[in-house]
Amino acid sequence: MKLLVTGGSGFIGSNFVRHVLATHPDDRVVNLDKLTYAGNPANLADIERDPRYAFVQGDVCDAKVVREAARGVDAIVNFAAESHVDRSLSEPDAFLRTDVFGVFTLLEAVKELKIPRLLHISTDEVYGSVARGSSREIDPLRPSNPYSASKAGGDLLALAYWQTHRLPVLITRSSNNFGPSQYPEKVIPLFVTNALDDQLLPLYGDGKNVRDWLYVLDNCAAIDLVLRKGGEGEVYNIGGGHEVENVVLTRQILQLTGKPESLIKPVKDRPGHDRRYSLDSKKVRQLGWTPRHRFPDALATTVAWYREHETWWRPLKSGEFRAYYEKQYGHR
Ligand code: NAD
Ligand code: TYD
Repeated sequence: MKLLVTGGSGFIGSNFVRHVLATHPDDRVVNLDKLTYAGNPANLADIERDPRYAFVQGDVCDAKVVREAARGVDAIVNFAAESHVDRSLSEPDAFLRTDVFGVFTLLEAVKELKIPRLLHISTDEVYGSVARGSSREIDPLRPSNPYSASKAGGDLLALAYWQTHRLPVLITRSSNNFGPSQYPEKVIPLFVTNALDDQLLPLYGDGKNVRDWLYVLDNCAAIDLVLRKGGEGEVYNIGGGHEVENVVLTRQILQLTGKPESLIKPVKDRPGHDRRYSLDSKKVRQLGWTPRHRFPDALATTVAWYREHETWWRPLKSGEFRAYYEKQYGHR
């Protein structure tokens, strides 16, 4: 296959590009990425010179750029997004642009160029908080913040293009990912790198919010399977099946970094903070997927990666990030 991957310089996208080139020797990948604060060419430095890989810097909201990059591809996999809930609370504009209008631009390109497949990457957050049980693909969408509302908008638009134009779209909705190369604003890399630096870990509210953690390589395998075997117009949940309260996760991180629990700092809660996410992943399991990584091992591998890749994350935590951190956490 020749693939156009959008947002391939971010966390999940870069892991996915590497996964595809490693597991499908005849595939080729074009990565279209705007390189926002979250996009990092270092994430794919090891395959930069692979003749099967090409990089285009550009915006998924730019119809001309998208059409040029998409010409002749067999499928598009859309990772491009603004992805951090906390940023969406104070600066939602870019979320609406990329996560809604960007999807629209891709859909129009697929329609015009008759591209055989568009896999749109979405999130469990579109279902909103679930007190009991697990979300199924047919459940209503009840997003609670500008990030998840924008992602839900992108999902609904994609499904509308399937209904009205029979456009060959597929959607995956995964739970919280973790692993190498995740930008240190998200809770696991933030807490790991803060702990390594003996800095406080700002735990929101009572620390009892629950997330269902999925190792990024397990998500990449599931996305790859859905891309090749999934049904058009279908949505697939991809859950790690490992639900844990934030406070428990925080203690595990402190244990793995060898730091004391006195580093935990309870802070004012995030507004509209979803209490729990939980996915029913029967559908993707029926397609043949199962997570291969056990959570404790994958978390240990992740902590070890950050310990060994200080040169990757330290520059990210200076500059723009310091201003963001001060704004986000200074008053809490
Ligand atoms: P990320 O923030 O690490 O990366 C996003 C990438 O998209 C960056 O490389 C960025 O430069 C690029 N980008 C942003 N705006 C763009 C634009 N307008 N045009 C082109 N490129 C643009 O995000 P991630 O964590 O890798 O998430 C990837 C996808 O997976 C997103 O769609 C996100 O909603 C979804 N998702 C993430 C998680 C998670 O836990 N991280 C869970 C479920 C779903
Ligand atoms: P996050 O990594 O932002 O992902 P999401 O909000 O998309 O689930 O946060 C994961 C959980 O960790 C969430 O319940 C919020 C919590 N959290 C903290 O307690 N402190 C923090 O500094 C951050 C960033 C998150």
